[in-house]
Amino acid sequence: AIEKTFSIIKPNSTLDNNIGNIIAHFEKNGLRIAGAKFAKLSKEKAEGFYIEHKERPFFGELVNFMTSGPVMLMVLEGENAVMKNRELMGATNPANAAEGTIRKLYAKSVGENSVHGSDSATAAEREIAYFFERSELTNRF
Ligand code: CMP
Repeated sequence: AIEKTFSIIKPNSTLDNNIGNIIAHFEKNGLRIAGAKFAKLSKEKAEGFYIEHKERPFFGELVNFMTSGPVMLMVLEGENAVMKNRELMGATNPANAAEGTIRKLYAKSVGENSVHGSDSATAAEREIAYFFERSELTNRF
């Protein structure tokens, strides 16, 4: 089925000028942009987004990193988009990411891992609504 998922190009990748490379990777592999914003996240916005990780030891580091520079917030759509995006990103830790995946190509570490992607359709719905109004999204399928 055609789905939408949520993606963030993280500060290490905007800093390294890899926005275009990462979007090209999505576009070449069957995902299209249905919404996009270039933004610098506030601490409050980043904390709310990652609220499920609040008790993790890396939460502070995660919020610091995600507010350290601009991010590209995107809604991606396509056939089986949630799973497809996860495949294209590769494992969370780039040390474990398969050859040719975005994290293998561009990530520095488990924290500076280039991209975020929703891990389920339920998460995608919450994450899209957290950053986008319905009127900001296209529906081309
Ligand atoms: P993301 O998909 O954005 O969701 C939560 C993030 O926490 C994850 O990607 C990682 O970048 C980050 N993360 C997970 N484990 C660690 C860790 N040990 N140290 C720092 N960041 C981490």
